[in-house]
Amino acid sequence: MLIQSMWYKKSMRILSGIKPSGRPHIGNYLGAIRQHIQLQKEHECIYFVADYHALTTLRNGKELKEYRRGIVLDYLALGLDPKKTTFFFQSDIPEHAELQWILSTITPQGLLERAHAWKDAKAKGERDMNAGLFIYPVLMAADILMYQADWVPVGKDQVQHVEIARDIAQKFNQFYGETFKLPEVKIEENVATVIGTDGQKMSKSYQNTISIFEDESVIKKQVMGIQTASIDLKDPMPAKNDIILSLYEQFATPEELKTMKENYKAGGFGYGNAKKELLQKILAHFSEARTLRAKLEKSQDLDKIMASGAQKARIIAEKTMQKVYKNTGLA
Ligand code: ADP
Ligand code: TRP
Repeated sequence: MLIQSMWYKKSMRILSGIKPSGRPHIGNYLGAIRQHIQLQKEHECIYFVADYHALTTLRNGKELKEYRRGIVLDYLALGLDPKKTTFFFQSDIPEHAELQWILSTITPQGLLERAHAWKDAKAKGERDMNAGLFIYPVLMAADILMYQADWVPVGKDQVQHVEIARDIAQKFNQFYGETFKLPEVKIEENVATVIGTDGQKMSKSYQNTISIFEDESVIKKQVMGIQTASIDLKDPMPAKNDIILSLYEQFATPEELKTMKENYKAGGFGYGNAKKELLQKILAHFSEARTLRAKLEKSQDLDKIMASGAQKARIIAEKTMQKVYKNTGLA
């Protein structure tokens, strides 16, 4: 369910999880991270590193440990304020896994079989079709319902999972009485799907990403590698169909975008120049965050920050679990 903030109320409780499965790209940033950071200005935000979820695809402890730490650095560098926002590791609150089990007992198998992520993995002939991948949406429902969230900001690919969480909550409330708040999806339509350098959805799985924190030389190579072959310069709406423009639009002012479009139409400007301008915009946009991340890398405070986040999260999680135990008869 897509919502626009018509019934906007101050200080909603916002919850989202970030799977530590690699380094972030601008698709993650525009589709999710930027919203997460902005929302903390006016709302009560709870964000966590979804390390239990990452286990469905990662098979290397050292790698997961690195990614977990990496994502914390990324979010702090991009503006997450741990004083305002509750930020923690999912596995620091093992009740997520406990609630997942309880919710799984009322989740119809058919509901999970219809989940796009599961269907896509099957269609692609994914070899590692583990049970965790199948019940992934139930763990996600546990994450969301545990904190009685009002809004869940995610990218388009996660919308169905949030809808499943709503279905599960509704079912649970029917069986056991009012226990969980029904969450709403929050999605930013214009960046619901950021296009990658090859024209498909930008995704780590397609190797078509533009990174945020890699070396400048890597980012340059990615931007200069944007495919341009299928672009129609006479297109009156080039921003919709042109990869360079669709990305440029996200980082430039309306004036700059207009100039870029005019340059395109006039011809002779060349894709090379357009890519260079895009590269400059991206580097400038993330320059502060890149410097901050490099500094934070040496910080000894990360463990403390995450422990204090877990402490805050635990208070809410325990309260919900008490309700769950009581209503199900487990206590
Ligand atoms: P990836 O596809 O690269 O593995 P993830 O699945 O880890 O990315 O996504 C992390 C978050 O970023 C999710 O909320 C997801 O919806 C969002 N996201 C990922 N790729 C995009 C994209 N191309 N456009 C918009 N949002 C995206
Ligand atoms: N499944 C989400 C993703 O792949 C991450 C996630 C886990 C999440 N639990 C969540 C997102 C709860 C929102 C709410 O990106």
